[in-house]
Amino acid sequence: MSKLKIAVQKSGRLHDDSMKILKDVGISIDNGKDQLKASARNFPLEVFYLRNGDIPQYLRDGVVDVAIIGENVLVEKGKDISIVEKLGFSTCKVSVAVPKSTKYSTIKDLEGKRIATSYPNTVNGFLQSNNVNAELHIINGSVEIAPNIGLADAIVDIVSSGSTLFKNNLKEVEVLLKSEAVLAVSPNISEDKQQVLEKLQFRIKSVLKGRQ
Ligand code: PRP
Ligand code: MG
Repeated sequence: MSKLKIAVQKSGRLHDDSMKILKDVGISIDNGKDQLKASARNFPLEVFYLRNGDIPQYLRDGVVDVAIIGENVLVEKGKDISIVEKLGFSTCKVSVAVPKSTKYSTIKDLEGKRIATSYPNTVNGFLQSNNVNAELHIINGSVEIAPNIGLADAIVDIVSSGSTLFKNNLKEVEVLLKSEAVLAVSPNISEDKQQVLEKLQFRIKSVLKGRQ
């Protein structure tokens, strides 16, 4: 039977829960996450540890067949990729935040402002649908520091517990989207791998049911 190639986040907020769900469906994986690839001992599965942002392209190219990934990443750069299962963990929001001292009442208050974000497509879609023009500054991490160093008037980033916003004296003023971990599938998955995926999905569904 061909091995299904699955991408999981190499490190970061999805990694541990992704490995846990594989374990909970009875799949045991040989190596730790220091290696970029590992095989399952008792299921036709190969695990690839990848950077979040790279996963949509790997799915498109068929380098991997499926992935456990945050919905927010697909909204940003994988609109063409289908979700086959919502996994219920790693829930977060993608939100606009501004300094606590900023007066904010409507989206129009963002007009002409500088917004720092790692999610430019998501932000542009949001601004366009609200007829607001703003200047984007794309940064890859620690976005919440931007207003404090005078780089931006607002940010758009992931909010989970809210503690990063709090520590940086920011307040959430708009929620662009809500996200959770999902199982996403390559548009180019082969017929035989599709069958392995169905087996995996069947197991995942029963684990998720048990978690409710
Ligand atoms: C993520 C995200 C937010 C924060 C949200 O950053 O970019 O900054 O977590 O979580 P919270 O609401 O629970 O504080 P992360 O720490 O992963 O680092 P990065 O931004 O440098 O990638
Ligand atoms: Mg961050």
